[in-house]
Amino acid sequence: MSAQTYRLRVKKRIQETPDAVTLVFEVPEAHKEAFRYKAGQYLTLCFELDGQPLRRCYSMSSSPLEPDLAVTVKRLPGGRVSCHIHDHLKEGDEVEVLPPEGRFCPELHEDQKKNYYLFGAGSGITPLMSILKTVVEVEPQSVVYLLYGSRNEESIIFREELDRLQQRYEGQLFVEHTLSRPKTIKPKGIRGLFSKGTPTWPGKTGRIDVAAVQRFLEEHPPLHPVSEYYICGPGNMIDNVQQALLGLGINKKLIHKEVFLNEGQGQPSSKTSIGLDRPARLIAHLDGRTIEAEVQPGKTVLQTLMELGHDPPYSCTAGACATCMAKVLKGKAKMEVCYALEDDEVKKGYILTCQSHPETEELEVS
Ligand code: FES
Repeated sequence: MSAQTYRLRVKKRIQETPDAVTLVFEVPEAHKEAFRYKAGQYLTLCFELDGQPLRRCYSMSSSPLEPDLAVTVKRLPGGRVSCHIHDHLKEGDEVEVLPPEGRFCPELHEDQKKNYYLFGAGSGITPLMSILKTVVEVEPQSVVYLLYGSRNEESIIFREELDRLQQRYEGQLFVEHTLSRPKTIKPKGIRGLFSKGTPTWPGKTGRIDVAAVQRFLEEHPPLHPVSEYYICGPGNMIDNVQQALLGLGINKKLIHKEVFLNEGQGQPSSKTSIGLDRPARLIAHLDGRTIEAEVQPGKTVLQTLMELGHDPPYSCTAGACATCMAKVLKGKAKMEVCYALEDDEVKKGYILTCQSHPETEELEVS
C-alpha cells in the first residue's frame, strides 16, 4: 500500500440519520486512478486534532459503478475523529486521504450466479451497501439477501435507499430489517406509567443472534448452488453470525468478516507483559529499505518504526483493517488482538504490526 496521502475536497455532506453522515468526495481527474476501488473497500482519513495525528478508516458506501466516491461515518460516543467529522467538517473542506484499501470484497463476474447473504449491524451496513449495489448490477443472475440490524426506526442508515433498491431489483435483492429497541407507544394516563408500551414497528425485532440468522436463512433459501456470506458489524454480532453459519456446516472460506470497532477498542495496551520482557532487535524490510531497530517492551513493531520517523503503512491501529500487515521472516511475534487476518494467514506467518510485540531476541519482518 502507498503511504502517500491526497487532499480531497468534501463535495457534499448527507445526514443519513442523526448519528450517521455520508461524505461525498471530489476526486480530481489526476487522482482518479489512485482512487479506483472495489466494493467493500475503505478509505483512511487523516486528521491532526490538537496537534495529534489521527487516522481512521471508513468504508465506502458508494459503489465503484457510481460517479461519486462516498464514505459514511457514524458518530461514536467519545470518538474524537467521528465527532470532529460530525461537528466541524463542512462541504468545501479538504481532507488528507489515503487511497482505497481492504479485502472485504467479492470477486464479481458478469456471468456468475451466486447467492450473497449479507449480515450487517449499525454502521456495518456501509461496505455492504457498496457490495449490494455493485452485485445487483455486475451479476444480474446473482441474488442478494441482506439482514440488517439497527437500534430503532430512526437509526436505520440508508432506509429509503434500501427500499428503493429493493423495488428496483425486485426478485434479486431482499432486505430485511431487525430492530433491537423499536419505538413504542404507551397508553395515556396512569396506565402508561406501568406499561412497557407497544412497538409500532411492523417488522422483525431483536438483535442478530444465532437464532435470527438461522431463521433468516430458512426464510430465504438459496436460489443458486453457490453462496457467499459477508458480515460487518461489532465483534459479538460477527461471532453470532459466524457461529450460526458454521453450525449449519458452511465452509469457513465462504464467510467474510469486517469488524467495526468503537473508538479506542483494539488499540495496543503498551503492557510490558506481552511479548519479550527486554528489548528485541527488529529488522524490517520496508519500501526496499532494511531498517534495524530496537523494540522496547510494551511497544509494537509499528510504534517502533513510526517513532523512528519511518513511514510504515497503517490505518486503524486497532487490529481491524490489515493495512499494517507484514510477514515474519525470522523469529516470533505476539499480537494483542487480530480481527483482520484469516487463521491460515496467521499460520503462514503474517502479523498485524500495529498489534505485534516481538517474542524472540530478534524479529525480522517484511
Ligand atoms: Fe489496521 Fe493494523 S493498522 S490492523
